[in-house]
Amino acid sequence: MFVCICRAVTEDEVHEHCSSGAMSVDAIGERCGAGEGCGTCLERLQQIVNERVATANSAA
Ligand code: FES
Repeated sequence: MFVCICRAVTEDEVHEHCSSGAMSVDAIGERCGAGEGCGTCLERLQQIVNERVATANSAA
């Protein structure tokens, strides 16, 4: 499923970028361009990052 329609970035791709160290919306945008178009997806991107951070913290 696409998260960012403007850059055709899927939720799975966003998770892959998070897994390889992109743990902010800006870092994800630098890697794949997500969020750098209309901005509609920014809220969902932030939600994914927050979930990943929470998961990483609970695993630590
Ligand atoms: S949907 Fe992501 S920037 Fe437009």
